[in-house]
Amino acid sequence: MNIVVVITLAAFAVGTALSCGVCPTMKWANCDGNPCKCYVMVGQGEKLFLNCTNLIPKCFLMKAEMYRARKGESTRSGGKPHETAFVDNDGIYDPDCENDGKFRAKQCNNTEECWCVNSAGVRRTDKGDTNLKCDKLVETYWIRLQLKHKPTTDKVDETKLINAIGNEIKSRYNFEKNLVKAIKYDPEARLIEVDVKKEMGNRDTDLAQMAYYMEKDIKALPLFKNQNKFEPSVESQKLEMENILVYYVDEEAPTFTMRNLPAGIIATIVVVVLAVVAGILILIFMKKRQMKYNKAQQREMDPM
Ligand SMILES: *[C@@H]1O[C@H](CO)[C@@H](O)[C@H](O)[C@H]1NC(C)=O
Ligand SMILES: *[C@@H]1O[C@H](CO)[C@@H](O)[C@H](O)[C@H]1NC(C)=O
Repeated sequence: MNIVVVITLAAFAVGTALSCGVCPTMKWANCDGNPCKCYVMVGQGEKLFLNCTNLIPKCFLMKAEMYRARKGESTRSGGKPHETAFVDNDGIYDPDCENDGKFRAKQCNNTEECWCVNSAGVRRTDKGDTNLKCDKLVETYWIRLQLKHKPTTDKVDETKLINAIGNEIKSRYNFEKNLVKAIKYDPEARLIEVDVKKEMGNRDTDLAQMAYYMEKDIKALPLFKNQNKFEPSVESQKLEMENILVYYVDEEAPTFTMRNLPAGIIATIVVVVLAVVAGILILIFMKKRQMKYNKAQQREMDPM
């Protein structure tokens, strides 16, 4: 047989396989019916239909994870780019999604306790009761990915790193490469800091979706059907990642208060407060001694 025909047939077979039976961008999906549709189970056992030609919106992924967690099936396991940047300390909840997969601005996790989220579904306000108002969904326009790679045998060429990361993000997540802005590299700490940033006001690209797939790729297992690793290659060397931290910067600063400060900062504040209290106590003590001394002196002088 002609080799071109074989390749064409193979491509056709892959094409039909993709259109029914397999969802490349979501390994937990099932596909059936005529016309064939792919879906994941969410909520109390409802089917949520997916468009498997694209990455799945994070809100849908979290709903699917919560469903699996309830069923006991497996799920998830440099510094700030900006003064208003924050990380997701809350972890997973069962989100309310719009039909197109965007997060609703207000989330309650099926409880009486609610909070407002950004377009990445990460909490950006204090928690309140069900009367809490979230006017709108605030967009995350800048994400900093702090990647730590495993030790390598050869030195990593920093100048080639930018392109390597950009290519991997482009090919793996079908993501616009020009949104990958700056990369900083610390060879000692094996830290690669990648800024992914779009124009404020841009609503065409969803940074959170790509970041979530990457978080899963590095911290747990890929969400893709294909379980290949996220492994940018610099020259002939593959860089395997061992950790990722994601910072979010929203178009408007979050409105957390003190009690949401990270433990480290709270500890510092406590130490400072204790030091001030100790200082005041010493002052009072010294003042008392001085007064006693003055009185004693006075008494001694009285008879004269
Ligand atoms: C899935 O997404 C692609 C690309 O955005 C679009 O062309 C296609 O019409 C969508 N399919 C369905 C079934 O909505
Ligand atoms: C949401 O609720 C689930 C239990 O249904 C709980 O395990 C999870 O920690 C909650 N998430 C948040 C962010 O409150």
